Amino acid sequence: MFKILLVDDEKAILKSLTFALEQDYQVFTCDNGKDALELMRTHDISLVLLDLRLGKENGIDLMKKMLGHNPGAAIIIMTAYSSIESSVEAIQAGAFYFITKPVQTSQLLLLLEKAAGQLDMRRTINSLEDVIRNEIIGDSPQMQQVLRLIDQVKDTKAGVLITGESGTGKELIANKLHFTSNRRDQPFIAVNCAALPESLLEGELFGYKKGAFTGAVRDEPGIIRKAGKGTLFLDEIGEMDLRLQSKLLRFLQDGEVRQIGGDAVRVDVRVVCATNRNLEQEIAAGRFRSDLYYRINVITIVAPPLRERTGDLGHLVPYFIKKYSTAYGKAIQGIDPEAFELLSRYDFPGNVRECENIIQRAVLLCSGDTIAADDLNLKYRADRTQEDQQDRCVKVYAHEKMKDIERKVLDLALRSHGGNRRRTAESLGISERSLQYKIKEYSL
Ligand SMILES: Nc1ncnc2c1ncn2[C@@H]1O[C@H](COP(=O)(O)OP(=O)(O)OP(=O)(O)O)[C@@H](O)[C@H]1O
Ligand SMILES: [Mg+2]
Repeated sequence: MFKILLVDDEKAILKSLTFALEQDYQVFTCDNGKDALELMRTHDISLVLLDLRLGKENGIDLMKKMLGHNPGAAIIIMTAYSSIESSVEAIQAGAFYFITKPVQTSQLLLLLEKAAGQLDMRRTINSLEDVIRNEIIGDSPQMQQVLRLIDQVKDTKAGVLITGESGTGKELIANKLHFTSNRRDQPFIAVNCAALPESLLEGELFGYKKGAFTGAVRDEPGIIRKAGKGTLFLDEIGEMDLRLQSKLLRFLQDGEVRQIGGDAVRVDVRVVCATNRNLEQEIAAGRFRSDLYYRINVITIVAPPLRERTGDLGHLVPYFIKKYSTAYGKAIQGIDPEAFELLSRYDFPGNVRECENIIQRAVLLCSGDTIAADDLNLKYRADRTQEDQQDRCVKVYAHEKMKDIERKVLDLALRSHGGNRRRTAESLGISERSLQYKIKEYSL
């Protein structure tokens, strides 16, 4: 549902407009410029219906401020005096359109539909530009293999599962799969399964009939149908609830979308999934259906962690330097060898996303024309990495039996003291006798 902001200093008008629009829009209201700007900012609103005369405030000035903050906003001016000059002025200052008071609901709805359509188009164009910009950088053997695999499977309808740690480029891979495939002229729709509660996600995906449940105020075709002959990208599939997993499985098996409270419709969409969880472990823990897993995972593409392909830094770092020095209008030529060496030794728990953040920040901070070690701020990160490793340790051990943990710790301690029992026992805070006993027990 599109959000709309109504700004008028007459309470009665706000009330009647809200009544007219709340079926089709998520309505926000306020009676002054300050609140209006705040609402637009906090709720990311791009559609506004604005009274030209707001008490002492001038609607056109306010509109200019709104456009300064959100240049893509569609602002419709309401005016009680159908004075030609003020309407012309409003349009010249960037208004989407103007409408005279008293506002006729049918006319307003039509106008809003047009404005919303234009906003939608702008959004699509923006995301297309993003996609075009988002090239997959890197030519390490691991990435070459990923690119080859994308090329081999881009046109199949078999389930592709993209796995890999956070920030390794899973979404980028899904994008490439679609935009190089024979479905590239069809929609690409990404859904983050972790972002919505289960009940909402079901409605979003499968759609619903008007009246199917409270709050279903109109028919909603659902994302799967909207994706049509295109690609549906189910991101973070590991977070999907078991009940919804069954429904998804049924759809994948028979190719029919069952709208909540409605009929089944055949859809020829291609489904690509991604997760940073280990789904086999999730299956073992009873949190993921194995039959769904086999459906979505006919082909697996593993996005390798950056620390296993540090050779790619030679491409990624210059790429991000160029990207951000252009964005920030800085003339940065490159990175000095010492700084690059530091990066090569860093283990990037946040992978390419983290690498990008580090370079972005360095470009901002850099005062010369070459990024230096100091600009990278890696010392703090290296410390944090150690913490992360401890965290990971805790996670690894949290699923093991006490005995197995004890065995590992003893083994590690013995090795690190070159097999010397006295020192090992001392470091573990136990007697040599009990160490002796445990070595026997675990046949170390
Ligand atoms: N090979 C690459 N070349 C260029 N940019 C990349 C590459 N891999 C990742 N990125 C960039 O890093 C960021 C994270 O990538 P992406 O969102 O695809 O990762 P992800 O694996 O989906 O992460 P998460 O699991 O956290 O959702 C994005 O800004 C993306 O453009
Ligand atoms: Mg992702």
